[in-house]
Amino acid sequence: MRYQDVHQLSVENPRFFWRQKMDLIPWFTPPEKVLTEDANGLHRWFAGGKLNTCHLALDHHVDHGRGSQIALFYDSASAHLKRRYTFRELRDEVARFAGVLRNLGVEKGDRVIVYMPMVPEAVISMLACARLGAVHSVVFGGFAPHELAVRVDDARPKVLITASCGIEFDRVIEYKPLVDAALVEAEHQVENVIVFPRPQAEAAMSPGRDHDWHALMHGTEPVDCVPVDATDPLYILYTSGTTGKPKGVVRDNGGHAVALKFSMKTVYNVNPGEVFWAASDVGWVVGHSYIVYGPLMHGCSTVLYEGKPVRTPDAGAFWRVIQDYGVSAFFTAPTAFRAIKKEDPDAHLRRQYDISTLRTLFLAGERLDPPTYEWLGQVLDIPIVDHWWQTETGWPIVANPMGLEPHRVKTGSATFPVPGFKVEVLDDEGAPAPAGETGNIVIRQPLPPGCLPTLWENDQGFKDSYLSAFEGYYHTADGGYLDEDGYVFIMGRTDDVINVAGHRLSTGEMEELIGSHAAVAECAVVGIDDQLKGQVPVGLVVLKDGVEADVRALEAELVQLIRREIGAVAAFRQAIVVGRLPKTRSGKILRKTIRRLAVEEQIVTPPTIDDPAIIAEIRTALRSHRVGQYANEPLGDEDAAGL
Ligand code: COA
Ligand code: AMP
Repeated sequence: MRYQDVHQLSVENPRFFWRQKMDLIPWFTPPEKVLTEDANGLHRWFAGGKLNTCHLALDHHVDHGRGSQIALFYDSASAHLKRRYTFRELRDEVARFAGVLRNLGVEKGDRVIVYMPMVPEAVISMLACARLGAVHSVVFGGFAPHELAVRVDDARPKVLITASCGIEFDRVIEYKPLVDAALVEAEHQVENVIVFPRPQAEAAMSPGRDHDWHALMHGTEPVDCVPVDATDPLYILYTSGTTGKPKGVVRDNGGHAVALKFSMKTVYNVNPGEVFWAASDVGWVVGHSYIVYGPLMHGCSTVLYEGKPVRTPDAGAFWRVIQDYGVSAFFTAPTAFRAIKKEDPDAHLRRQYDISTLRTLFLAGERLDPPTYEWLGQVLDIPIVDHWWQTETGWPIVANPMGLEPHRVKTGSATFPVPGFKVEVLDDEGAPAPAGETGNIVIRQPLPPGCLPTLWENDQGFKDSYLSAFEGYYHTADGGYLDEDGYVFIMGRTDDVINVAGHRLSTGEMEELIGSHAAVAECAVVGIDDQLKGQVPVGLVVLKDGVEADVRALEAELVQLIRREIGAVAAFRQAIVVGRLPKTRSGKILRKTIRRLAVEEQIVTPPTIDDPAIIAEIRTALRSHRVGQYANEPLGDEDAAGL
């Protein structure tokens, strides 16, 4: 069947379509129903089905002749370490670690937080939770203690798993003090903390609460997979919303397994036995779906790379890994290639490696800007696939379906809706936008399997955030348009979410934090275009009347505040004190105008502006702080120590 027919069938008759696809995975008990609504009117896939996600990812392959195939290549350019696990070895480690968790009282439905760098033990932790039917919540290692504490209080885990440190380029970041600080701040008491020790840093342990990974593993008996319902949660992944409280995106077991298995062939066109590499982090959705679950469930070997695209040791790092492991499909964020292009503009290093196994390059996490796309086209002679998705959906919404029917690419477009997703564009009143006209990108309900069924213990929040803006649709909060041929163009977020080096962050949260400072009357944080990171946050701050402050010192203090409360990953380097903010006559801050003032020479003054004279004031403030010009320069040691 051709793409057009498959897509049409999937959106016109989703029950029929996904009934056919549910056989892609081996269930313990097949589902009774394909699609149902729960008591709250929310869609649930594959009710009545019993399965275990760890079984699909590991045991099933061991039982069906893949036991000695490599499941995981671990390559740490940061720690100068390489290790490989066959499916059998990984299954055995996971089964034993599941035994460790069970000995600590973890049962089906209990939550476990994983706050770890890119080490195999992070993957083992996730799969061990899945094996027990426990719900993992991985927190990205670049987040500060406050962010971890917020997630601990929301998920209320029985166990928290961490490592003694992460390694950023050549800098050792001790994780245990961050965990200790988070657990002091959190109200929820975590009974047990498991620490994976790394030679680069020793962790201080609290007797009774903290346990050494190896000591717990020693002599522990493996445990078997616990059957769970298709609709039971596999994980919670917190993601930035518009406020300081992150959203707990829930992923179920059944829909997730079917959707990922379907995507591995349809979108990524890889076959069992091949090597799939997503250069992301297990703390992000890409890491969950395409470092851990997707490739393993599909019987692929996956690569866990601890390092950066550059300076570990050079801009040839990605090409080396592709060569060393014979990668067939590679997935990363455009920002990574912008970093490589900056250091090796003529791609000299690429010629040092044999990357002939690579069939397709996939990019997501932010818009694939045309200059990066064109550069990649010169460097590689394989298809370059931009595809669009969100933490909430868990797998691609729009892509060039390489395993179904590859299409001609239009620069700037992620191509067509993936089967399962009915993508439309509506204006602010909910009327369909004509082809070529930018509006709100929405997905007609039901969302396909694999997408979030709800937010963690917050059905109402799920409805309010995603389902209430346009009746019958899921609101993506991305703006864009469909052209006359149906190609989808994603132009950027319509809310307070920004993308910084492929990391999703909330400017609303930054505004809340800055606004809490005693000297601040009001502020606006906006994402300014940045050549390397795509966007970087910049804050404009108005002081309370009568506050006498050393402005430069206050600006530095606000930068440290964000770094301390959210983390270095926010890349918040500029807070600028101004006399007032540009607003409409009704008092709304003109954030888009601020963004444009930073990067454009000429802008049209918005007709609704309260006082046009402010445009010149803000422009001068942005220029004097060289906004948009030096955001990528390394921080001095003093600043760096503030994590
Ligand atoms: N633990 C602790 N700190 C972390 C961290 C982690 N896991 N990840 C990032 N940080 C810190 C960094 O050390 C840096 O700190 P600094 O301000 O003290 O230097 C800060 O957070 C910003 O990190 P990062 O966004 O990685 O920027 P960078 O300048 O170090 O590197 C790139 C730039 C482009 C090389 C890098 O951002 C990159 O590889 N991006 C790809 C992102 C990606 O894969 N996203 C997933 C979507 S698919
Ligand atoms: P995350 O939840 O971290 O995956 O971030 C999701 C957001 O990243 C989306 O809502 C988009 O704004 C952006 N994004 C992801 N992929 C793309 C893409 N291919 N093109 C444009 N924006 C993208």
